[in-house]
Amino acid sequence: MRAIYPGSFDPVTNGHIDIIKRASMLSDELYVAVLTNSDKSQTFSVEERLRFLESVTNEFPNVKIVFFDGLLIDYAKKINADVIIRGLRAVSDYEYELQMAIANKKLCQEIETLFMVSDSKWSFLSSSLVKEIAMFGGDLHGMLPDFIINEVEAKVRRR
Ligand code: COA
Repeated sequence: MRAIYPGSFDPVTNGHIDIIKRASMLSDELYVAVLTNSDKSQTFSVEERLRFLESVTNEFPNVKIVFFDGLLIDYAKKINADVIIRGLRAVSDYEYELQMAIANKKLCQEIETLFMVSDSKWSFLSSSLVKEIAMFGGDLHGMLPDFIINEVEAKVRRR
């Protein structure tokens, strides 16, 4: 099975890494795709987000990190993906996820969306939350890999 796990990953957190790890065990090939969410402005460049993802996934041989500037479903079709993986952290994620899954299904009948329940350890976590904690000097240990913490703190301080 070829799977794609999309997100803006701005930046990748331990919650994403947990989903990547578990999804990579379920699939033959897992494409982790950095895509653009047009509702959000990005803190990290595409190159930085790709570099973070490459570093945290180099121990998983079947994981490939990619960027696509367009519709998720177009990229999923291009690589012949069987499924789109999405993580659900809480009930509040469900409505948005359902809408995306139905829209993607309408655009391509053959590709299914599979939801994975986030580990409860990470259900509070989001990329914006870590940036906000960094902005006010809070401790990010345990939320992100250490080398990303340094980069998030440096970036947020510069802004
Ligand atoms: N652990 C920790 N945090 C998580 C998480 C997990 N398991 N899963 C999601 N999150 C966080 C993300 O970091 C993100 O945080 P933020 O809002 O603070 O940035 C938030 O939860 C929402 O994540 P997600 O729902 O994955 O949104 P996203 O912005 O990362 O990704 C895209 C959305 C990019 C996949 C979507 O916009 C897309 O497909 N874009 C391409 C264009 C397209 O096809 N649009 C039409 C879709 S039908």
